[in-house]
Amino acid sequence: MLVSHSPKFQPWWLIIPAAGFGQRMGAARPKQYLALDSRCVLEVTLSRFIGLPGLQGAVLALAPDDALAPALLANFKDFPLHYAVGGATRSASVRAALHFVQQQCVDKHTMVLVHDAARPCARRLDIEALLSCAFASKDGALLATPVRDTLKQADTDQQVLTTVSRAGVYHALTPQAFACDLLAHALDFAEQAGCVLTDDSSAIELLGKAPQLVVGHADNIKITHPDDLPLARLILQAQGHWHSAQVPLLG
Ligand code: C5P
Repeated sequence: MLVSHSPKFQPWWLIIPAAGFGQRMGAARPKQYLALDSRCVLEVTLSRFIGLPGLQGAVLALAPDDALAPALLANFKDFPLHYAVGGATRSASVRAALHFVQQQCVDKHTMVLVHDAARPCARRLDIEALLSCAFASKDGALLATPVRDTLKQADTDQQVLTTVSRAGVYHALTPQAFACDLLAHALDFAEQAGCVLTDDSSAIELLGKAPQLVVGHADNIKITHPDDLPLARLILQAQGHWHSAQVPLLG
C-alpha cells in the first residue's frame, strides 16, 4: 500500500520580492531574468513552490518598468500568479505585495512566506520544514544555516581587528514565514523608525519578537555576484532540477 508523506498545511501565500536590479551582478538585465537552464532565475525560483500543499497563490513584486514579466506570466498560466508594483527597497517591495495578500484574506493570521527571487535553489523539504515550524510558532520562522567559517572583524584597510565568535551565529536565508498582519505591522513600524532592513525577520525582531530558526541547506544561495550563476547551475544539476544542457555549466 502506498502511503503519502506529504504534509498538510493551512492556507498560505507566497510573496516574491523581484523588484531589485542586482547591481553587483553587473549584468545588462535584472538578475532574476538571467538564464539559469532553459528557464530564467525567477521561473526556477517560482517552480520550487508550485504544488506545495496549502499554497493559495503567489504575488511577485516587480519594478515599475519591468517589461519582462508578461512572458513569465504566460509560462505559469495555470497557477494563481499576481503582480504588485515594488518599491525602492526590498522591504517596500514586500510591503506592496503584502498589501495585495491582505486584500484577499479574511483571516489576518494567514501565513505568508517571503522568498527572494534570487534564490532558485531552495529545497522543497526545507520549505516544508519551514512551513511546519512557522504554523507552530507565534513569531514566525526563517530558514537559516550555521556560520561555518571563522569570522574576522576588519578595519577599513581590511586589516584584522579581531576574531568574532561564530558560536550561535547563523546566515539568515529565505523563505521566511510570518502571519500576514504581524509582518505588515512590523514592516510599517520599521519604515516609520527609519530602519533599512535586509530581511523580514529583522522587522519582526524590532517589535521585540523572536522568530524561530529552521536549519536549512547551505546550497540555498542568493545569486548576487557573477560567479553565483554557474554555481547555481551546478547546485540545480546536483539536486536533479537541471532542465536543459543549452546553457554551458561554466563560463
Ligand atoms: O539586493 P538583494 O539581492 O539582497 O535583493 C534580495 C531580493 O529583494 C531580490 O529578489 C530583489 O529582486 C528584491 N528587491 C526588491 N525590491 C527592491 C530591492 C530588492 O524586490 N527595491
